[in-house]
Amino acid sequence: MVINVKTSGGSYDITLKRNALNEVNKILNIKGKALIVTDSGVPRVYVETVSKQIENSVIYIFPQGEKSKNFETYSELLKTLAENKFDRKDCVIAVGGGVTGDMAGFTAATYMRGIDFYNIPTTLLSQVDSSIGGKTAIDFEGYKNLVGAFYQPKAVIIDPDVLDTLTDRQFNNGLAESIKMAATSDSELFTLLEEYNAKDIIDKVIEKSLLIKKTVVEEDEKETGLRKVLNFGHTIGHAIETVTGLDELYHGECVALGMMYMSSGETKERIKNLLIKNKLPINADFDKQKVFEALQHDKKAAGNGVNAVFVKDIGEFEFKFLEYFEIDNILRGV
Ligand SMILES: NC(=O)c1ccc[n+]([C@@H]2O[C@H](COP(=O)([O-])OP(=O)(O)OC[C@H]3O[C@@H](n4cnc5c(N)ncnc54)[C@H](O)[C@@H]3O)[C@@H](O)[C@H]2O)c1
Ligand SMILES: [Zn+2]
Repeated sequence: MVINVKTSGGSYDITLKRNALNEVNKILNIKGKALIVTDSGVPRVYVETVSKQIENSVIYIFPQGEKSKNFETYSELLKTLAENKFDRKDCVIAVGGGVTGDMAGFTAATYMRGIDFYNIPTTLLSQVDSSIGGKTAIDFEGYKNLVGAFYQPKAVIIDPDVLDTLTDRQFNNGLAESIKMAATSDSELFTLLEEYNAKDIIDKVIEKSLLIKKTVVEEDEKETGLRKVLNFGHTIGHAIETVTGLDELYHGECVALGMMYMSSGETKERIKNLLIKNKLPINADFDKQKVFEALQHDKKAAGNGVNAVFVKDIGEFEFKFLEYFEIDNILRGV
């Protein structure tokens, strides 16, 4: 299926299709040169499948992991584009997870003031979340996503077949973002996830997640309002992520922990059970004081508190301003 996402400057298509990797150039019809960006953890066969369909391509592989989402990799990518004499008619293609997508997207956004960017996400997290919405960024001086741009892809190709090589933990990490979106905006998806094994209905899960995110980013491209709903579980989740470090807990796992603090009663129970079912954490042994401090230093902090998303009933959400003492109480479970 094809999902069209409208942006302020036009629109782009997301093709969601099994075996789409083998049809990349049938879909994209690339004429100029392509820089294919990937990382060392993405199975090489995917990259080769893409590159052999494009007449004139250069492959750039950087070491896998968030630690590569930095200025050095960015600079190397720019150098590769310049050395190979890429110009405005050429393009950048990301084949990989969210790190690859962010790296490649930011490079495409800034090289010669912007060249075409295509995204072929290969992790569940990137398929349901980071490949849609036009955010690109790199980390800087220890701050996540500090330098970046809103830059829309020209097209996105999602092939669920590539998920077969993901570890279960990486799969569940991405699923946490779908659970997040279902909890705030789609009770039907939430119920589906409760009733079925996620892997058995993954095409449906990806499709429904994309439709939720499409609705949100079309309404609020630059995150001035509604888009903040995507931060459900992220307010405390990010702070946990900062304190524990990425090696210990994955992003989706921190979001799972964060969701537990932003729901209550029966709704919390349902979220908790769905997280447990998908081997996502519902509590962890982190330093609450440090998390509290990290929250106060978050770039989203506002005055004497933070804005957070709360889910009262599955499929519905509310924005809440929480003062620091309230956050402190929530963290301490009082
Ligand atoms: N731009 C956005 O809107 C947005 C949204 C959410 C997250 N992000 C960013 O996304 C990043 C996280 O993305 P991620 O979770 O995809 O991490 P990731 O890109 O690091 O991928 C996780 C690991 O999986 C490997 N991998 C990728 N595809 C694979 C496959 N098909 N089979 C086996 N292994 C595979 C990678 O090599 C990597 O080691 C973060 O940097 C985050 O800031 C961006
Ligand atoms: Zn997230």
